[in-house]
Amino acid sequence: MQKVKISIMLIALMLSGSVNLLNAQGDKVPTVKLNNGWEMPRFGLGTFMASNDDCKRACLVAFRNGYRHVDTAHAYGNERGVGEAVKESGIPRGELWITSKLWPSEYGEGKTAEAIDKMLARLQLDYIDLLYVHQPVGDFVGAWKDMEKAVAAGKVRTLGISNFDDSDEVFSAIVDKMTVKPAVLQIECHPYAQRLDIREKIKPYNIQLECWFPLGGAMSQGVLLKDPVIKKIADTHGKSPAQITIRWHIQEGFSVIPGATNPDYIKENIEIFDFALSDDEMTTMRSLNKNQRFFNMTLEQKQGFVNMRMND
Ligand SMILES: NC(=O)c1ccc[n+]([C@@H]2O[C@H](COP(=O)([O-])OP(=O)(O)OC[C@H]3O[C@@H](n4cnc5c(N)ncnc54)[C@H](OP(=O)(O)O)[C@@H]3O)[C@@H](O)[C@H]2O)c1
Repeated sequence: MQKVKISIMLIALMLSGSVNLLNAQGDKVPTVKLNNGWEMPRFGLGTFMASNDDCKRACLVAFRNGYRHVDTAHAYGNERGVGEAVKESGIPRGELWITSKLWPSEYGEGKTAEAIDKMLARLQLDYIDLLYVHQPVGDFVGAWKDMEKAVAAGKVRTLGISNFDDSDEVFSAIVDKMTVKPAVLQIECHPYAQRLDIREKIKPYNIQLECWFPLGGAMSQGVLLKDPVIKKIADTHGKSPAQITIRWHIQEGFSVIPGATNPDYIKENIEIFDFALSDDEMTTMRSLNKNQRFFNMTLEQKQGFVNMRMND
């Protein structure tokens, strides 16, 4: 009788939304201990191209399905959506990993400190788990100095470099010269562009790789997910090509943040911890590499980002 009462109470609490239970998938999301000691879930939700409202909805679906890591950026214009979802979810802050990125127009000593405070306000958070310099143009060294101060002040826990694969010079300017070392590098990476050189380059620094466009991105028009080799492996496991691709990222040791607003995709993408690719299947996936990136912009073209203003 007592057991029945407890079960009814639990069901009532779950329906009222006042308890958040991780599903079996969420429980199994692997983490990585970064070079600064913080532990980051190696799987999360990407939010590129999502409006504030769509982003909030997507985060809430994701949280209900066990996601605890969200990747946003000032440039995406949806940090408010992330913050609202975090609040509404009721999930203890310590269980979440929230990443955002500073845009080049907010780089510079003093200026970046102000930008971080505005970011915290948009996210309605006291601290950001991982803060990136989004692009390697403009005064990213000045930005990094303010980011180091934000770490010391407890406003940010981990610093990362995003798209610092454009040249050795920009990579070295942060990695070799700054006091607080980056813990994560975020770059385009997927089975068609496996980024072997940069993966070797970051190894001595113990920098974690995090992959954007892990499914090829919207610009690829789904070409990666239509690959017959991936489709064949998917059929073997009774999984989708997206699930096989994300599972490949996880088994390669990457952090992966597939973007999705479609609730079915959000659910599907985390259902990858109940199977494993064999060594042969991993070798086959690795053979798909053809250094084919879907986003191609030179460092010179990126200089224009410095003058691109964004709303607070
Ligand atoms: N640092 C950078 O410069 C940078 C650049 C790009 C992206 N990022 C980050 O990395 C994240 C991932 O990249 P991304 O979102 O651009 O590309 P992506 O994750 O490779 O692909 C997202 C696209 O795939 C679709 N999709 C998601 N799950 C699917 C599934 N199971 N089956 C079929 N289609 C599926 C999505 O559709 P729906 O939207 O319809 O659900 C969306 O069109 C971004 O969201 C962002 O957080 C960072």
